[in-house]
Amino acid sequence: MMTIEPRALRDAFGSFLTGVTVVTAYDQNEQPIGFTANSFSSVSLDPPLLLVCLSNSSSNFDALTTANGFAINVLAETQIEISNTFASPVEDRFSDCEWQNGPYGGPVIEGVSAWFDCSMYNIVQAGDHVILIGKVEAFEAGTAPGLGYARGAYVTSALETEVLVGRSNFIVSALVERNGQVLLMQDKSGGLSLPERPVGKSGATEALRVLIKDCGITAAPGFVYSVFEDANDHQQHISFLCQAAEGEPSKGAFLELAAATLELIADQSLRSMLERFATESNMDNYGVYFDQSDNNDAVSG
Ligand SMILES: Cc1cc2nc3c(=O)[nH]c(=O)nc-3n(C[C@H](O)[C@H](O)[C@H](O)COP(=O)(O)O)c2cc1C
Repeated sequence: MMTIEPRALRDAFGSFLTGVTVVTAYDQNEQPIGFTANSFSSVSLDPPLLLVCLSNSSSNFDALTTANGFAINVLAETQIEISNTFASPVEDRFSDCEWQNGPYGGPVIEGVSAWFDCSMYNIVQAGDHVILIGKVEAFEAGTAPGLGYARGAYVTSALETEVLVGRSNFIVSALVERNGQVLLMQDKSGGLSLPERPVGKSGATEALRVLIKDCGITAAPGFVYSVFEDANDHQQHISFLCQAAEGEPSKGAFLELAAATLELIADQSLRSMLERFATESNMDNYGVYFDQSDNNDAVSG
């Protein structure tokens, strides 16, 4: 029998490209609550049902499992900040976004791709999560393209199209990750940087392939993690998140993004991007969460 290693299983689950939602409701004190979730799925048309999985360790566990209903807000690709806010320990997660009550009473966020205002249909206990099944009482779908998520990175269609079609003045960098460490190189001034090279005429994907080969590693070219402008020379950068296989690189080394390592990143924009990556990795946001808590006294239906 295969030994199921939680981290490896989480990474494998994370390879499934999903959208991103914010699940909202009201707590017992009539305060709006919400958390980011990519475990959303449609379930049934008749009756109209959907589901989302909630971790047993959620600070909103009691409120959500006793609520009369909840709303699913399908985030648009411009709403990465909202996704991060509702996945972080922020006191008032609603303070930076516009929202109003849906027809059934669930908090609905402005500008989302779609929302579903649901009554609670069933709650099913499932290991370290509960499955909240909602019955759609009202919904609306807009035209804003949805935000995507895979292997711990946001994926946006507009961004990729803009970047990959006909733009050759970018510097491509590879954010190569393995077991919580990132491949870093020594730059000309003795600081640390990501492996990078200009896009060239053959395009970003080809530049990335060459870059990975030059580092002497086996890694899958992944999704765009970030597009940013160098604060000093205004050069445009595009960084791809790539998963590396086992094996030593011929250039650079895999390092953890600890504070002391981040201090050695000379480029301020690159350092900000890697700080964000370190934070988001620590949020366990690969799509599935393995809590060690044994809080399995969930309501079951
Ligand atoms: C993209 C993304 C998807 C997530 N999906 C889920 C999910 O499906 N279920 C879940 O319980 N937590 C999920 N999380 C984690 C929660 O949003 C995060 O743990 C949050 O802090 C929970 O807040 P709470 O404890 O206040 O409920 C996800 C986080 C991110 C960034």
